[in-house]
Amino acid sequence: MDCSLLLLLLISLLLTLSSSFVSSSTYVEEQKRDRITELPGQPSNVDFRQYSGYVTVNEERGRALFYWLVESPTTRDPKSRPLVLWLNGGPGCSSVAYGGAEEVGPFRVGSDGKTLHPKLYAWNKLANLLFLESPAGVGFSYTNSSSDLYTTGDQRTAEDSYRFLVNWFERFPQYKHRDFYIVGESYAGHFVPQLSKLVHERNKGFKNPAINLKGFMVGNAVTDDYHDYIGTFEYWWNHGLISDSTYHQLKTACYSVSSQHPSLQCMEALRSAELEQGNIDPYSIFTKPCNNTVQLKSFLKGRYPWMSRAYDPCTERYSNVYFNRVEVQKALHANVTRLSYPWKSCSDIVGNYWTDSPVSMLPIYRELIAAGLKIWVFSGDTDAVVPITATRYSIDALKLATITNWYPWYDHGKVGGWSQVYKGLTLVTVTGAGHEVPLHRPRQAFIIFRAFLENKPMPMS
Ligand SMILES: *[C@@H]1O[C@H](CO)[C@@H](O)[C@H](O)[C@H]1NC(C)=O
Ligand SMILES: *[C@@H]1O[C@H](CO)[C@@H](O)[C@H](O)[C@H]1NC(C)=O
Ligand SMILES: *[C@@H]1O[C@H](CO)[C@@H](O)[C@H](O)[C@H]1NC(C)=O
Repeated sequence: MDCSLLLLLLISLLLTLSSSFVSSSTYVEEQKRDRITELPGQPSNVDFRQYSGYVTVNEERGRALFYWLVESPTTRDPKSRPLVLWLNGGPGCSSVAYGGAEEVGPFRVGSDGKTLHPKLYAWNKLANLLFLESPAGVGFSYTNSSSDLYTTGDQRTAEDSYRFLVNWFERFPQYKHRDFYIVGESYAGHFVPQLSKLVHERNKGFKNPAINLKGFMVGNAVTDDYHDYIGTFEYWWNHGLISDSTYHQLKTACYSVSSQHPSLQCMEALRSAELEQGNIDPYSIFTKPCNNTVQLKSFLKGRYPWMSRAYDPCTERYSNVYFNRVEVQKALHANVTRLSYPWKSCSDIVGNYWTDSPVSMLPIYRELIAAGLKIWVFSGDTDAVVPITATRYSIDALKLATITNWYPWYDHGKVGGWSQVYKGLTLVTVTGAGHEVPLHRPRQAFIIFRAFLENKPMPMS
């Protein structure tokens, strides 16, 4: 062999070695930088690790997404646990605010807006939880090109979230190849299957993909506009929330339109419906609303009353205080570019200017069911925003074969809800739960999450 060729080989070998050395030391550094030492006000006996920070998803436009990783307690062997990405909806609502601080995260924010209290049924007891504020413009996630805020839709959200995952797994290579799930609720009924589809497609041809997607689960999820509308209006009518005439008006004006972009007539019908419903909490119709003034105002200006951003049970207020505290943002490594607006649980701009929103997720369901992904759908049955009837009509439209017909599932001798196991999909309802099932029925939600991870049907007794 030519001596200069040998030299060249040697040099390239050295370069490869040194670059892999650099990249391995980089991720260690990055993890160290993102490690949360302690959140202000957190309880004293926290026995799990937390990380948070930014991942750049578009360098040209300057878009960076904020994440919060909550690992399983060290006593529960986080290394053996799967990784679960949790997404909230809106569109435009923060997963830190809802999933993280209200629903499945380890803490809830006290009414003082300062103290964090442990949650008995936190899902990190079963899995490592990754909360992502998405898309850019939501929560601490930002874009340096402000026009992005007015042009975001489903497609960019999915692409940016995918880019986030790819970059995040480079920062946390210990999670590569581990069982990975995507879970979310409400309008994340779009985000979850769409992102799952992207991951699935881009994993094709890899025997042992880094992002080892095993399945997804959605709750009170926007799924198929046509069937969701039928079920929603029926629910409003048969729960006595609207008049016969408005029911009729909704049926004629709304069935053929998109929920994100309804026609004028449909918006008018929706407006009559909301006025007739009055000052209830539509997200949980049998519980007291937190504060009517806010709800009504936001409904009147709402462009999409159905997906109203009046998502305001009182717990959310405490988060709004907590996450705007300077010391909290410092501990979270958040808002490092000093954004010009405060942290909010939902971004009105992102939500109000939402662009593309396909009318149905059912084609993706069909594709991913055929691909063998584990798919679960749950529904709290006192939610009037994406009600159980909407979910049932949408799932029925898939025309899946039944494996186990509708049956009550039990928690300590009490009916927790009902379930039906289809070929390729499991449907679970939670009785007495509103839109945010883990907030209203934390224990039942925990049982569902465990059954989903273990791939077992809901308990029959
Ligand atoms: C956005 O702009 C700020 C200020 O110029 C900069 O520090 C930051 O890195 C930019 N973010 C991204 C994701 O490019
Ligand atoms: C409801 O909110 C309004 C405006 O934020 C406030 O003035 C009012 O006192 C609140 N009412 C209750 C019952 O908390
Ligand atoms: C970011 O920090 C600035 C102060 O530096 C504050 O005014 C702003 O409300 C914060 N924004 C967010 C989204 O946290």
